[in-house]
Amino acid sequence: MTSLILRSLLLFAVVAISSGNGVRYTANWTSIDSRPLPVWYDEAKIGIFVHWGVFSVPGYGQFSEWFWQSWKGAHRADEVEFMKKNYPVGFTYADFAHEFKAQFFDPDEWAEIFEASGAKYVVFTSKHHEGFCNWPSADSWNWNSMDTGPHRDLVGDLAAAVRKRKGLHFGLYHSLYEWFHPLYLKDRASGYKTQEFVFRKALPELVNLVMTYKPELIWSDGDWEAPDTYWNSTEFLAWLYNDSPIKDFVVVNDRWGNGCYCKHGGYYNCADRFTPGSLPNHKWEKCQSIDNRSWGYRRNMKLIELMDLPTIITDMVYVVALGGNYLLNIGPMEDGMISPLFEERLRGMGAWLGVNGEAIYSSKPWRIQGENTTVPVWYTSKNNTVYAILLEWPSNLLFDLAAPKTSEATHVTILDDPSVPLKWVSTAPTGLVVLMPDIMPVSPGQGWVLKLEGVV
Ligand SMILES: *[C@@H]1O[C@H](CO)[C@@H](O)[C@H](O)[C@H]1NC(C)=O
Ligand SMILES: *[C@@H]1O[C@H](CO)[C@@H](O)[C@H](O)[C@H]1NC(C)=O
Ligand SMILES: *[C@@H]1O[C@H](CO)[C@@H](O)[C@H](O)[C@H]1NC(C)=O
Ligand SMILES: *[C@@H]1O[C@H](CO)[C@@H](O)[C@H](O)[C@H]1NC(C)=O
Ligand SMILES: *[C@@H]1O[C@H](CO)[C@@H](O)[C@H](O)[C@H]1NC(C)=O
Repeated sequence: MTSLILRSLLLFAVVAISSGNGVRYTANWTSIDSRPLPVWYDEAKIGIFVHWGVFSVPGYGQFSEWFWQSWKGAHRADEVEFMKKNYPVGFTYADFAHEFKAQFFDPDEWAEIFEASGAKYVVFTSKHHEGFCNWPSADSWNWNSMDTGPHRDLVGDLAAAVRKRKGLHFGLYHSLYEWFHPLYLKDRASGYKTQEFVFRKALPELVNLVMTYKPELIWSDGDWEAPDTYWNSTEFLAWLYNDSPIKDFVVVNDRWGNGCYCKHGGYYNCADRFTPGSLPNHKWEKCQSIDNRSWGYRRNMKLIELMDLPTIITDMVYVVALGGNYLLNIGPMEDGMISPLFEERLRGMGAWLGVNGEAIYSSKPWRIQGENTTVPVWYTSKNNTVYAILLEWPSNLLFDLAAPKTSEATHVTILDDPSVPLKWVSTAPTGLVVLMPDIMPVSPGQGWVLKLEGVV
């Protein structure tokens, strides 16, 4: 144990003495927050979030990934009743781990689905609040996927498969706190004056993940009960940005301690399903689950609780127009299968992006983000090209856009059929009327993109 503490301390000591090229960051938020976000992240726009763990075995509850806490922490009636009805007296949460078999887990199949979704990055739960590590962590006793359950390095196998797909980045979700870890409970009882859990569990494991899997993104979570000084977050991030093997490309979010989110770190997640009403002044990401209620798989989910494809596309387009990234979540089943329903949604999003991705990837918010002149329209832009994304097909062939200012060079096409220029006339003082194709192109989802070149 002492060696673990030494390991963490040594690691951060290195920060002070090693020298590298370029800017070095200091362990305070002013310095950490000044790091420019690696560009790949903003260009990627679309990611897939994957919640998988022991919680996928009961696969039940208001949100399944919180099952243990709902059952044994909050004693929520629904989960308590579920256990009484379906499991023998004395059955513990740890017993579920033996049922986490992952027998059908084919990481290449997953990676193929993620690529087909049009996503450019994947964020996988290395460890959720239950503390079960989906990799062979030496700091996690028997509570990891190599010693118990799948007997497999799930993180490593998925990382390898995802990286075989060109253009797909691999990221890891990591929960700082663990509901029932004895050292965490001890630190909490001390009012977070002691940091045993941090130095013997959280930080060694974070460092281990970085060194072993070199994730391109760290999606931190479970931070809110304790201040960032308890987690030694700025010290960790200074090491990550200055001296880790992933310092040049790693992207992190903003959940690094109570009060951090929406304020500090890399990009902002803010609250789950963050839905700003106007253009934020900082790079952000909306995470959203296809199963609206749960991040982990729920065996009791119903079709009407799932986002349908038009809803997903509407949400994604809104997020990108407001400068965000869209991280769409699925919860695989304990046996390693991705529900064909989730798969269908993901492939549907990919089909839509196959036609319309030019308006999404690497785009920037335009000076006006959206308008409702005739049908809801969101704008994105690239250099002198503006994309008007229509979420409904206009009932009138003469379609009004109010914001763009045309010029003699203005050229309008629809991405479904870019070879046919569309006729348009400008309206005063700004705007234009576009003569839409008289047959609605069949959208592999819902939403069409007008490409407006030569407008300001
Ligand atoms: C953790 O942070 C405290 C200050 O908050 C600092 O004194 C200590 O050296 C840090 N430990 C490590 C290992 O970074
Ligand atoms: C943070 O670090 C920077 C760079 O070393 C330093 O200039 C600044 O004074 C520090 N800020 C605080 C609040 O400690
Ligand atoms: C999912 O939740 C969002 C709000 O976060 C809501 O707008 C949408 O209608 C919901 N979809 C379903 C299928 O419940
Ligand atoms: C258009 O109006 C609807 C309904 O008020 C609103 O939900 C939507 O966000 C608006 N779209 C834009 C692009 O402003
Ligand atoms: C936009 O302009 C930059 C240079 O200003 C150029 O490198 C880039 O390729 C352009 N992008 C597109 C999509 O034309």
